[in-house]
Amino acid sequence: MTNAQYPSVNAQDIARAVDVLSKGGLVGMPTETVYGLAADADNRSAVLATFAVKGRPVNHPLIVHVAGPEALPYWVRRIPEEAVKLAEAFWPGPLTMVLPKAERCGDFVTGGQDSVALRCPSHPWTRALLQAWAGPTQRGLTAPSANTFGHISPTSAKHVADDLGVRPEGKLDMILDGGICEVGLESTIVNLTGNQPQILRHGAVTRAMLEAVLGCPVPDAGGDAPRASGRLKSHYAPSTKLELVPANQLENRAAALSGLRLAVMAPEGVFENASGVVLRLTSPVTAQAYAHSLYEALHTLDAAGADRILIAIPPQEPEWAAVNDRLGRAAADKDAS
Ligand code: TXA
Ligand code: MG
Repeated sequence: MTNAQYPSVNAQDIARAVDVLSKGGLVGMPTETVYGLAADADNRSAVLATFAVKGRPVNHPLIVHVAGPEALPYWVRRIPEEAVKLAEAFWPGPLTMVLPKAERCGDFVTGGQDSVALRCPSHPWTRALLQAWAGPTQRGLTAPSANTFGHISPTSAKHVADDLGVRPEGKLDMILDGGICEVGLESTIVNLTGNQPQILRHGAVTRAMLEAVLGCPVPDAGGDAPRASGRLKSHYAPSTKLELVPANQLENRAAALSGLRLAVMAPEGVFENASGVVLRLTSPVTAQAYAHSLYEALHTLDAAGADRILIAIPPQEPEWAAVNDRLGRAAADKDAS
């Protein structure tokens, strides 16, 4: 990971968030991946309120965020050896593990499934919050990404304020402003409930990193995988139609779209100064930098007042899997899924 520059943790804000959450309130919470919409994972009505606020179907399971591996026995009924190894290697950090759920875990969290997704985030604000929150029963916080269902995920407190807002005008009780998310894409999700570990969602913890720790192949999950809303084809989508175009075909594509206002993201030196372009962003050159700024870039491109967004297809190497996955979903035809 890169060296993140987060504002220093404000203890008063953390104490207020604990108070709000204890009363069943909803808190916009910074993590190193994206901002989450936090609620007390043991409180049915608080958790159900997060679905209502997002406009998300209630059968979509949520991730429970915990203070550390010490929480595993409180939420999981059988802890596979792989979970211990992965927690040791990647927690706190952008890895979520799907595990057999313990009795404690309500259907309102798991969408009725027999498994629960657990993650221990590394963002200093969320670490402080979870440590203050956990208590003797290792309480957890459910937190879907803090955006309206199907919208682009938020990577700053401003994104959350613009999309969901704070009461009385908005929908949340408070938003913790922990700065810009370092990773920028949702956590990697690994399913550890089957015979073999499988990737349900690509993220900053790559397949190669998982395989190096586990010493076995970690394939993508097949079509029979547990429900994961990030697996819907059209997800993380801007409202402006978005096309992915090979960099060397941008000029041709723009010519074919002549008359339309275009918002473009392409590598430096490619398709510069073209006519009809109302906004041009430069593609970051590393997968980490691209991931870090992708959602911010999508927000900006979407707000440019263009008729069409054109993005040059990034490299296809394995470390770009999460970036290409999210771009593919952002470009998916909404009507077709
Ligand atoms: O980086 C992240 O994971 C962010 C931050 C806030 O932590 N959270 C996030 O939550 O992306 P959400 O709800 O937007 O995505 C969680 C994903 C969904 O695709 C959900 O279906 C999947 O996790 N999931 C949760 N529980 C699961 C389970 N028991 N089995 C399979 N998938 C599960
Ligand atoms: Mg989401």
